[in-house]
Amino acid sequence: MIGKKDIEQYFPELQWIKDEDLRKKVVNVWVEAAKRGGWKSLSDVPFTLLFEKSGLLTDHTKRVVKLAKNVFDARTEDINKDQLIAGALLHDVGKLLEYELRDDGRVTKSEFGKKFRHPVSGSNLAKEYDLPEEVVHIIYAHSKEGDIIQRSLEAIIVNHCDFIDFEIKKSLV
Ligand SMILES: [Fe+2]
Repeated sequence: MIGKKDIEQYFPELQWIKDEDLRKKVVNVWVEAAKRGGWKSLSDVPFTLLFEKSGLLTDHTKRVVKLAKNVFDARTEDINKDQLIAGALLHDVGKLLEYELRDDGRVTKSEFGKKFRHPVSGSNLAKEYDLPEEVVHIIYAHSKEGDIIQRSLEAIIVNHCDFIDFEIKKSLV
């Protein structure tokens, strides 16, 4: 089982969240998503199924968190850093439910994932685990779901940082 310690080891970037309660909640959501998705190791979870050899979801997540922090550091607007980092860390956590590891070792879209994309399942799980509405919004709006609503500043940053990483990785396949 993937526990809190595992998540803390995968994501030292958690320390960039000052609010201890928020940090704990981020860890709890990752643990619960791994449990519900039946994952025994996060090293089995791919970044994406949209192209081959995309690498690991954890590595993508770390790159997005770092990009988001760098954008924060470059800006002077009133941006909530704790919520930005929490949202970046959780933006794709729903992929643990959207994808599943099959007995043959392949990862495919789960039955649940065919019904609910990861921005929806991830934001729902975050809401269930009492994350602030602002963080739930970042997760929900980080992809195309957010195109038809007004994204917060933090959600704009995560949306773009996510696609910077996606486009770069995809272009190198
Ligand atoms: Fe992502």
